[in-house]
Amino acid sequence: MPMARIKIAPSLLAADFTRLGEELARVETSADWLHLDVMDGHFVPNLSFGIPVIAALREKSDLYFDCHLMTTNPDAFLRELAAAGADLVTMHIEAIPDPTAAIRRARAVELEFGLVINPETPFAAVEPFLELVDVVLVMSVEPGFGGQVFIPEVLGKVEKLRETVEKHDLSADIEIDGGITSANIGRAAEAGANVFVAGTAIFGADDPVDAVMELRRIIEEND
Ligand code: DX5
Ligand code: ZN
Repeated sequence: MPMARIKIAPSLLAADFTRLGEELARVETSADWLHLDVMDGHFVPNLSFGIPVIAALREKSDLYFDCHLMTTNPDAFLRELAAAGADLVTMHIEAIPDPTAAIRRARAVELEFGLVINPETPFAAVEPFLELVDVVLVMSVEPGFGGQVFIPEVLGKVEKLRETVEKHDLSADIEIDGGITSANIGRAAEAGANVFVAGTAIFGADDPVDAVMELRRIIEEND
């Protein structure tokens, strides 16, 4: 079975916000994607950063920008996100239970599209849309904050997703986000995830490049 390509996506939420450009430069060559957490203080009880920050970072980087919208109205800013240089937009199925129109609108502005599923939300919520999306992002913590503890119970959902994607020969990446460390990334890979978001484990490390390489090494060793 050809396994989807492994991608490591540092989450900028855990970076030093007084020097975002430098933090981004530190992971530019070792990371595959940059994960950008946009929060609205409504869908989640926290605020982070928005489109102007993404646009400023785009000036500094050629990395693939994975924009995780934790917002109530995730389809309101698609055009602006595309203009800011986002590559992928992911929206919570809990915020937009029928995402078909949003998917069309994202494609119209040449954004790739992913659906995000919270720890408590069942697989069935995203199942009808799997063939329409580029990514399914499984949250392994409650969204809203970095530095939380990984919830292993979500791995059953990752397994189900991988099974379904392979069975129907779909191209969707399976991404996992929240509490990923060198202690659990192997289990997440075994369950079938192929894109791994890590904030604290990368930007909280003394050397973020070593941290990215270590996470990648663990997955490849398990392969
Ligand atoms: C949580 C965010 C995550 C977060 C991950 O709401 O979606 O992307 O930045 O951070 P860590 O890896 O520290 O759990
Ligand atoms: Zn995220």
